Amino acid sequence: MSELTLLEVHDDVAVITLNNPPVNALSSLVVEAVIARANEVATDDSVQSIVLIGAGSTFSAGADISEFEKFRTADGQEGNMLHNAINLVEALPKPVVAAIHGTALGGGLELALGCHYRLADASAKIGLPEVKLGLIPGAMGTQRLPRLCGITKAAEICATGEMVGAPEAAEAGIIDAIYDTDLLKAALAAARRLAATGQPLRRTSEINDQFGDRKQNAAALDALKQVITKKARGQLAPLRATEAVEMSATVSFAEGVHREREIFAECLKSDQSKGLIHIFFGERAVGKVPGISKETPRRPVKRAAVVGAGTMGGGITMCYLNTGIPVVLKEVDHAQLEAGLERIRHNYGVSVERGKMTEQDVEQRMSLITPTTDYSLLGDADIIVEAVFENMELKKRVFSELDEVARPGAILASNTSTLDIDQIASATNRPESVIGHHFFSPANVMKLLEIVRGRASGEDVIATSMDLARRLRKVGVFVGNCFGFVGNRMFWPYLREAQFVLEEGVRVEQVDQAHFEFGMAMGPHAVGDLAGLDVTWRINQEMCDTIPKGMRLPLVADKLYEMGRYGQKTTAGWYRYEGRSAISDPIVEDLIQKTAEGAGIVRREISDDEILERTMYAMVNEGALILQEGIALRSVDIDIVFVHGYGFPAWRGGPMQYADTVGLKKVHDRICEFEEEHGFWWKPAPLLTELAETGGRFRDWTAAR
Ligand code: 3HC
Ligand code: NAI
Repeated sequence: MSELTLLEVHDDVAVITLNNPPVNALSSLVVEAVIARANEVATDDSVQSIVLIGAGSTFSAGADISEFEKFRTADGQEGNMLHNAINLVEALPKPVVAAIHGTALGGGLELALGCHYRLADASAKIGLPEVKLGLIPGAMGTQRLPRLCGITKAAEICATGEMVGAPEAAEAGIIDAIYDTDLLKAALAAARRLAATGQPLRRTSEINDQFGDRKQNAAALDALKQVITKKARGQLAPLRATEAVEMSATVSFAEGVHREREIFAECLKSDQSKGLIHIFFGERAVGKVPGISKETPRRPVKRAAVVGAGTMGGGITMCYLNTGIPVVLKEVDHAQLEAGLERIRHNYGVSVERGKMTEQDVEQRMSLITPTTDYSLLGDADIIVEAVFENMELKKRVFSELDEVARPGAILASNTSTLDIDQIASATNRPESVIGHHFFSPANVMKLLEIVRGRASGEDVIATSMDLARRLRKVGVFVGNCFGFVGNRMFWPYLREAQFVLEEGVRVEQVDQAHFEFGMAMGPHAVGDLAGLDVTWRINQEMCDTIPKGMRLPLVADKLYEMGRYGQKTTAGWYRYEGRSAISDPIVEDLIQKTAEGAGIVRREISDDEILERTMYAMVNEGALILQEGIALRSVDIDIVFVHGYGFPAWRGGPMQYADTVGLKKVHDRICEFEEEHGFWWKPAPLLTELAETGGRFRDWTAAR
């Protein structure tokens, strides 16, 4: 018998332990083993009751997600095995108690719902997070859960995918009892008690009186659907999950299960679930950097310093404070320092207003800041993050000053969004300690941290940076050094095309709306206004020498900058702002039209599809170059950068996965057409041409390193 489940008999109670580290995922083999164990104890007369528990730190994280690819091509038939296991457990004539610690998620919870009694550790969490993978619960969860906690609560759990703590789950009727002492001991006692009563077993599938009031459910579901439509914009699974739960009260259990299976199979085949599963594994893959292992030495990080208390410096300081790491914050003068501190306090104030923090929390975090205008206080810091203006001369000066004051072994990180880390490092006598830590705005909110390797960056500095990203609750993506690294290098062509189509005849709102409907968090011009057209202008100044003469360049953004229209911060940019509402501005449309006429650009109508092809394929083509040059380790690293740093919809799997979904031949053909029409910018990347010709995909491609 496989070791994937363990069986021990404690007098008259059989204990079946799921044993598939690290999270007891229910792979086909584990499910097979559960079926075998259940059959074994069913016929063992010495066993009066059964406990189902998980080994290690958790009960079960659900079905093995890595097997879904196989299920897709096999019409989901293999998925039946989990159904069989759960139904078998529920049908056993002896009481089965699920003992839950850690998490019971997805198929793990569905298995527990098939048990006759559920005990949980007080700190345990349960949930049906399948929607986060573009799926609905597929092992009868949408039909059993509402039979325990009612339609409203079940729909909320299935549609949001959020975990629920054991106490709340107990109050809702999902968990029968909570223990914070020895869970196994409590489960053994509960199993014996149930066997001793001789009362009929409580089989969840047979409960039909817990659905709740019909009218109240209808009102709650309407409200839930509105929330989902907004929060999970563009996603299919949350509404389908609600539909499946809703049905449980009106059809038989068997009919409900049948419909759930159909919806699950539909979702499993969708591009959305492929995209979200790609992101799930991608988020875990990016943490793995070749050459960096658990054995790689780390540098201690207990105290930090941040240079520059502007937009980014303030946000970065907050990230450290939120993790309990004290920060020395350095500015050029007291006025800038005060303004920076005020911005931090204001941002925390917003969290207080939203009930996410107390005034006391704010005071505690602010007390971790040591404000200064003097370098001398930076000498104790284990890491110093520079966030001054985007200007190479200034950055080099700051780094040479830091080299003077920083203690030996301190990490010197630059938050530059585009500039050459090696040049910055050359201003110091310790290039091995210099690295890029590129946060995204607002730094205290956005999850991405690009960790940019300079030529000399030490392995211990890289390893410490990757760990630090996790401590700061960021997704750290390791990238190579080039202008703009991964994110901004690809975002530049995206913004370029978004501006070219304006010059060619499209309105600002049409471009933004097309992108919003595609699923982007914001359109490209709204993003420009948020980030600041002054920031883009500075970047353009730094990069203009690198662009060959005679190239077509966007003409309007810099004119807006010259007019003092920096975006939201000056209440005018691509749009005019009243509060945070963006209003289209005839002055801008007029400027675009006149600029285009002046440059002899023929204006025409352009469809939303073409707008999206222009921006997305420009970005993907650059992505192919980045991949080929080894600036990104894998195509999924690029996807994670865009999902967590640029508001790219996770359900499309990121730009490279999106291109794989469209088909690289189609993308390549269109790029060739654009090259004929618009010239140089559209030269197809050699890797894209190669993959288009060989029927390959970015996600399968690895460089022969
Ligand atoms: N299947 C396969 N592998 C899984 C998995 C799963 N359900 N859940 C986690 N893993 C893997 C991760 O990929 C990771 O592998 P790696 O070490 O090789 O990178 C390893 O387990 C550890 O995972 P984390 O790094 O995420 O560990 P954490 O402790 O941070 O988080 C967790 C644990 C909260 C359980 C988190 O892993 C998680 O949310 N997992 C997914 C849960 C989920 O979505 N379940 C539903 C599955 S679909 C389903 O059940 C369908 C059913 O209805 C039929
Ligand atoms: P900002 O203009 O808001 O802040 C820069 C701050 O640096 C100013 O307060 C300035 O007084 C201060 N400063 C200048 N010289 C200094 C010195 N010698 N010592 C101490 N402080 C000094 O700029 P922002 O937007 O915060 O950008 C900072 C860096 O972050 C730039 O490199 C930028 O490219 C990068 N970045 C910006 C993003 C954005 O969206 N704004 C996103 C990601 C990175």
